[in-house]
Amino acid sequence: LSATVLMHPRFTVGAVDRRLFGSFVEHLGRAVYTGIYEPTHTTADEHGFRKDVADLTRELGVSVVRYPGGNFVSNYVWEDGVGPVADRKPFIDLAWRTVEPNTVGTDEFLQWAEREGVEPMMAVNLGTRGVAAAAALVEYCNGEPGTRWADMRVANGRTEPYGVRLWCLGNEMDGPWQVGAKDALEYGRLAAEAGKAMKLVDPTIELVACGSSGMGMPTFGEWERTVLECTWDVVDHISAHAYYEEHDGDRASFLASATSMDRFIRRVVASADAVAARKRSDKQITVSFDEWNVWYMTGRGGGAPTSSAAGIQRDAPRIIEDVYSALDAVVVGDLLVTLLNNADRVPLACLAQLVNVIAPIMTEPGGESWRQPTFHPFATTAELARGTALDLRVDAPTTTTKEHGEVPLVTAAATVDEQTGALALFLTNRSPEPVEVTLDHLGAQVTLEGAKRMVADHDPAVHGPEHAAQAIASCWGEVDTADVRSEGNRTTVTLPAESWTA
Ligand code: AHR
Repeated sequence: LSATVLMHPRFTVGAVDRRLFGSFVEHLGRAVYTGIYEPTHTTADEHGFRKDVADLTRELGVSVVRYPGGNFVSNYVWEDGVGPVADRKPFIDLAWRTVEPNTVGTDEFLQWAEREGVEPMMAVNLGTRGVAAAAALVEYCNGEPGTRWADMRVANGRTEPYGVRLWCLGNEMDGPWQVGAKDALEYGRLAAEAGKAMKLVDPTIELVACGSSGMGMPTFGEWERTVLECTWDVVDHISAHAYYEEHDGDRASFLASATSMDRFIRRVVASADAVAARKRSDKQITVSFDEWNVWYMTGRGGGAPTSSAAGIQRDAPRIIEDVYSALDAVVVGDLLVTLLNNADRVPLACLAQLVNVIAPIMTEPGGESWRQPTFHPFATTAELARGTALDLRVDAPTTTTKEHGEVPLVTAAATVDEQTGALALFLTNRSPEPVEVTLDHLGAQVTLEGAKRMVADHDPAVHGPEHAAQAIASCWGEVDTADVRSEGNRTTVTLPAESWTA
């Protein structure tokens, strides 16, 4: 099989916002407790946060971390998670039916984010709460001392405002599973008023309205229209969430998951632009893809959200700790290709999640931490994709899949860093056969540096630090220079079957 990729440094999509490489920490399972935070761990810092996890977070290249949920936020009372820890009361989180001890709250998280150099993205509860609690939280985080909620922060030991820029107006409010779920009009009106009040407290913040929790939701499209009609004047972004998995051994559809993500983005953008047209507005709403990943919701032990038949759990239970394979990592790499190709309308995205819960980083309580295969394409893309995304022309053979119809077998994205002149290229081969790709890089000389590759093996996913290290050695590594031939403006590279290459 063969394909061609045509690129020119002047044909561009748009600037790559660093916030595209965000992740997510929810009070869910072991994401917080024994994930980022474990005061008795040998690597814990003086604040009780695991240094080994913080180091891996840096290595992953994460720019933004969304917090505290997720479904969790829709029944969270943020005031219960601030102030002296000894006075904080545990509560039953209805989203995951787990006792939340409230040991880690807003201050602990924001100070961790500050120490680790990641930008926090906060979500407010629009499930069981509303306008006043949302505005109060913005004041608590960003207000100058001298008013009620800002002074509560000062009394809790933090004088300097945190300056949190990114705020989500609730989470997945269209989902029947959401505590306090709403129809589009109910949510749209509430989000508009909450957003208005939040921006009256701090006009510099950026607001994300809840879009659909998936393209397959029955209200998809109409939800976006109604919500944006209501919130047009206050919001900056609309969210999209998507999780992918292999169904019934349909590997071809799974490998083409990024085609579905691309369609999802285009449809959300079309819905937003249709509202702009109706309003005769020049405003351009962008997409915050603030939950995306592979998640074996229906298979392979990842497990569905806690059902109401199960009892209420305590002590940071193991919930949705998916174990990933190299195939999953190839799909994650390809999803990143799609995000880069939509850089003009997607400035912000969060790999859901960061630690233990459908995560690239795993830990054992009191033990080691390690990288899952999905860690590698994320870290490599976050490191190399800088500057401006290029508008490529890819001519590739196609295949017809059960879930997505006709899809290309090769996908590509590229960025050019104007500061250094570096060109980064990302290629996925979704085919079960190798593909020879010819790159026409008009106006750019190409040298091979730092090329990395993930090849999907047929081994099942493996668990544990040593296993993960062994397994990764067979599927992740440097690209063999013999696979690449460069001549003037043309380079030929052979992509192994089912692989992702940077
Ligand atoms: O990331 C896990 C869960 O998936 C989040 O809590 C929710 O927003 C989504 O359904």
